[in-house]
Parts: sequence; C-alpha cells; structure tokens
Amino acid sequence: MLRVDEVSVSFGGLKALDAVDIDVDTGQVTGLIGPNGAGKTTLFNVITGFQRPDNGEVLVDGRDVTHAGPKKRARLGLGRTFQRLEIFGSLTVLDNVLVALENGGLRGRHAREAGIDLLRRVGLERSALTQADVLPTGMARLLELARALACRPRVILLDEPSSGLDGTESAQLGRLLVDLAGEGMAVLLVEHDMDLVMRVCTRIHVLDFGRIISVGAPAEVRTDPAVQAAYLGGASTGAER
Ligand SMILES: Nc1ncnc2c1ncn2[C@@H]1O[C@H](COP(=O)(O)OP(=O)(O)O)[C@@H](O)[C@H]1O
Ligand SMILES: [Mg+2]
Repeated sequence: MLRVDEVSVSFGGLKALDAVDIDVDTGQVTGLIGPNGAGKTTLFNVITGFQRPDNGEVLVDGRDVTHAGPKKRARLGLGRTFQRLEIFGSLTVLDNVLVALENGGLRGRHAREAGIDLLRRVGLERSALTQADVLPTGMARLLELARALACRPRVILLDEPSSGLDGTESAQLGRLLVDLAGEGMAVLLVEHDMDLVMRVCTRIHVLDFGRIISVGAPAEVRTDPAVQAAYLGGASTGAER
C-alpha cells in the first residue's frame, strides 16, 4: 500500500536518510523505530510530502507520489499525525474533529454524529466540549488521531502517538491501531514505547543514523544484535537527540 524506495535526504553535510526502503501493507501495523535523531520524522515528512527527498521514490498503492504535494497525497489516502501537535487550541475537541470532517464534505447532523463516533473511538467522548488547548498532551495526541481518521485515510502515519499517555491509555491506543488495521487500513507507527511497538506491530523497520539496520517480526528485531548495539550505543529512546 505504501512503498518507500531508496529515499535519501541530506541537511547540509548530514545524511538524515540514506537509501531507505520500507513497505507498509494494508491490514497491518508496521513499526518504525530507532534512536532519537535516526531520521524517523524526516522519513514521515518525505512520505507525506513535507520534505523533498534528494533521491528515491514514494509510492501509494503503486502510484508514484514523490513529486506530489501534501494535499494531493492526503486526497490519495495518506493521513498523518504530527510529533508537534497541530490542533486548534481555541476550538473545542469536537469542533477540531468537525473542521476535519467538514473539509471532507460532511455537514450538520451527519458531521456531528461522525465526530462523536470518532471521539468515542479514540476515547475522548467525555472531553467533546472541552477547549482543546486545556487537554493534557496525551489526550491532545488522541485528538490529533481522531482528526486524521476524519479524513478516512487508507494509510495512516503516527509519530509517537503514545507520548504523554499513561499505561491504560497507551494499551487502549494499541487496541485501536490493531482495529484500524483489521478494518483494512495500513498503519505506520513511529513509537519509542517498545512494549507498545512489540505488541501491536507485525513487522518493524529499525532506522539508525539514516539507514535501515533491521527489518522483521518483533521477536527477530528485538534479538538482532545490530538493533541492540544501536540502542546501547546511541541516545536513550526517550528525549529528542
Ligand atoms: N530541517 C532540518 N534541518 C537540519 N537538520 C535536520 C532537520 N530535520 C531533522 N534534522 C536532523 O536530521 C536527523 C534526523 O532527525 P529526525 O528525522 O527528526 O529524527 P527522529 O525523528 O528519528 O528523532 C537529526 O540529526 C536532526 O537533527
Ligand atoms: Mg522524531
């Protein structure tokens, strides 16, 4: 459903991505992990059209979108959440979702019902009328996810969705991602919560200094000496490098 082929990006002398290949299949949650500064967010930006690659291609459902802008890609079914939150703080939680639904053509009662359904899915229905900028970070991330889902993406990219969530919320998020995949979505998850990644992903790609150093099932990746070395040798998996 989503293919990244030989993508490279340099920032000045720094190779943020070096000939990166990844595949994300429909019906699965695919993981992208790696120490901070590995290039995960840069890769998301390339996939969604916010960063032009120096080399390589991005294909959505077999279609080359490498030179398409973010809006065109969104129309082709690519949805994302941002690591930096992109919600409208002065609007209520429900209105944030309604804006996205209305962009998609829904109006009035239909939009409202769809909005409440989406909030229920992400576990925010009780905060529907809360002003968005008073939400704790974790819940704001869930709101971002609801907004992304409002656009009915076929592929969804999530950049560290569990940061700020407690264990229960994070487990709930994991179940939602598995459900979305089960409904036929292709999910690409960037996440530093290894328990969550190992639990919900069927395949994991590991980036380190801009290169894919390992790909496989969770058990394979976890025991790969190259992955262990990257995490031990690099920064911790928590804060930004
Ligand atoms: N716009 C930019 N300009 C210069 N360097 C950047 C830019 N964006 C990211 N980088 C650098 O590229 C590398 C990869 O960053 P990033 O993709 O944010 O990593 P991750 O999301 O895995 O933590 C880092 O060294 C970062 O400092
Ligand atoms: Mg990042």
